[in-house]
Amino acid sequence: MSTKSESKGTKKATTGYLHGFTRDEQDRLYHQARFLEHRVHEGLPLRRAKNLIEIGCGVGAQTDILLRRHPDLHVTGVDASADQLERARKHLRSLPWAKGRAQFVQGDAGQLKFAADSFDSAFLCWILEHVPDPLLVLSEARRVLRPGSQIVVTEVLNATFFLEPYSPHTLAYWMAFNDHQLELGGDPFVGAKLGNLLQAVGYRDIEVEVKPIHLDNRFPGERAEFIAYWSELLLSGAPGLAKAGKVSAATVAGMKRELEEVAHNPNAVFFYSFVQARAQVL
Ligand SMILES: C[S@@+](CC[C@H](N)C(=O)[O-])C[C@H]1O[C@@H](n2cnc3c(N)ncnc32)[C@H](O)[C@@H]1O
Repeated sequence: MSTKSESKGTKKATTGYLHGFTRDEQDRLYHQARFLEHRVHEGLPLRRAKNLIEIGCGVGAQTDILLRRHPDLHVTGVDASADQLERARKHLRSLPWAKGRAQFVQGDAGQLKFAADSFDSAFLCWILEHVPDPLLVLSEARRVLRPGSQIVVTEVLNATFFLEPYSPHTLAYWMAFNDHQLELGGDPFVGAKLGNLLQAVGYRDIEVEVKPIHLDNRFPGERAEFIAYWSELLLSGAPGLAKAGKVSAATVAGMKRELEEVAHNPNAVFFYSFVQARAQVL
């Protein structure tokens, strides 16, 4: 069953947002962005970009990093949530390097309030997984980008998660988490489809890179950090899942036990892959 809603024949671009907008969840986004910074931001094709649109900017956690890494960049952040944008503005005001270089606009990614050819680059990170019609969002992004612009899209591929030792409660919870996101109209597997989606709306020179995070005894420190980070991510969805009747208290408790075990097991393995795509507007 999907809660995708349509009105007058046009798909609505906003869906139920799985994680919610609590202060803890907003803090998690800052932590997540910094934690994954080197994997998401290294080598981005934004050297010549001056005027970037960040679609689904949330609390400005990626905006912060984009402005720090690209000193000539100006960022226009768009998000559907006024609460996220309020936090983003406050955060950016606290950063000396961001002064006068960012603006935030409330709006729907499927109906951008900008004229055609307004920007020379676009950055989307962990947003397509939350929208019911990613084609519409990518097509809107293309409309507001000038010829020659670069788009960078980073997305989840939740089917790739694996833990050693085997953790059945955690996997049951994970499947419930993914099912719930699908029912809300999102797509926890959208990363695998980025090439198709970008091609379908006419982007060119599409490159899709699968980014594996494979942590075992070779990287004990990073493995421990990742398991802690991942536990935070899993638990951030727990109140929503419990409220929707998708997981039992016993499953959540079992998952907590298993994650503790994984964290202390000398032969633990953490595996997950996300996907990053780059493409051009011609
Ligand atoms: C997981 S957060 C990611 C935020 C940011 N990109 C980051 O990496 O920290 C997803 C964001 O997408 C926003 N969002 C979801 N659907 C949207 C839509 N249709 N239009 C604009 N923003 C949307 C949510 O409000 C939320 O702030």
